[in-house]
Amino acid sequence: MTVILDSSDSDQLAFAVRRLRELKPVGVPSETVYGLAGLAQSEKALAAIFHMKNRPNFDPLIVHASSIEALDGKIIWEFALQKKLAERYWPGPLTLLFRKTDEIPDLCTAGSPWVACRIPAHPQFQALLRALEGELLAAPSANRFASISPTSSQDVCAELGPYGLEAVIEGGVCERGLESTVVKVHSEQGIEILRQGAVSYEDLAGFLGSEVLLELRSSGSGIDETQVESPGQLKRHYAPRTPLVFFEGTQLNEFVVPEKSALLRICAEDDARGLERHSWGHTVLLSESSELSEAASKLFRVLRQLDQLEGLQHIVALPTKELGLGRAINDRLKRAALY
Ligand code: TXA
Ligand code: MG
Repeated sequence: MTVILDSSDSDQLAFAVRRLRELKPVGVPSETVYGLAGLAQSEKALAAIFHMKNRPNFDPLIVHASSIEALDGKIIWEFALQKKLAERYWPGPLTLLFRKTDEIPDLCTAGSPWVACRIPAHPQFQALLRALEGELLAAPSANRFASISPTSSQDVCAELGPYGLEAVIEGGVCERGLESTVVKVHSEQGIEILRQGAVSYEDLAGFLGSEVLLELRSSGSGIDETQVESPGQLKRHYAPRTPLVFFEGTQLNEFVVPEKSALLRICAEDDARGLERHSWGHTVLLSESSELSEAASKLFRVLRQLDQLEGLQHIVALPTKELGLGRAINDRLKRAALY
């Protein structure tokens, strides 16, 4: 049984700190999704995270810090653009890649000279980092490998309770509901989005202006799992157990709707291609008012709920517009659909 901790209670926060110092993983809330945290500078703590998630060790972990100062001596700032992005987006859901120093174990970065870092905005995650007095926490999403990221403490218990997770800190439902955007700065004039997420391409492009080239690694690039640079780019990921069909077609007759299926729509204004007129076992619309932030915050929770329905054969998801958070939503659905 996983205990759910209230970190506003000093004894319960101290319990989480003690477990982490004993190099055991603890579930933590963040504004994006829940994480499975361990001391980033301990190989033993990192190994415990990989083991509990059943995560292959070629897939590196994000390091979380309470402040920019807490990263001193752990990373190398190479570009003014890295500072500019950190100052604009931290604390918050942007993860930046830096050259690492020897203070960061190779296991954390899967042997890469680059380490991914962010300062989370969630108050309970911040409280935990402060209680650790500047120690860094590695934290992948708190799900078993390739499954759906958890957006509540109950999700974390369901995912990792059976694999021995002792405790998760309560932090409510995640505000963003999508993982952080992972970005690599290549030069003062060029950055690349390695994984789309809670900070949209348009947001970054607007902030950077026309002097900086912003590249987007395409989701269907078909990279193979051993040479992948940001394994959140693995083709199949974020998948429910129920087979998911990402219906990008335009003609209704291209697709025969299987029995006992659910239709998942993102925004009311998206083209439903007539599919809404079928008789579905279930239909879900994530945002009646067509707000992508609302849809994003509900996406993983709804996929999890659909996955729990008895006898559901398929989930048929329709794409939303390829703009703003819509890009990250489509990206997750595309990956969830691959088998
Ligand atoms: O929002 C988030 O990022 C959450 C919360 C807990 O912070 N964490 C999260 O971690 O989503 P995870 O492990 O599920 O996804 C991390 C992504 C993966 O796509 C991984 O490949 C990439 O970041 N990544 C981590 N370290 C990297 C590195 N050194 N180089 C390239 N990509 C890296
Ligand atoms: Mg993940």
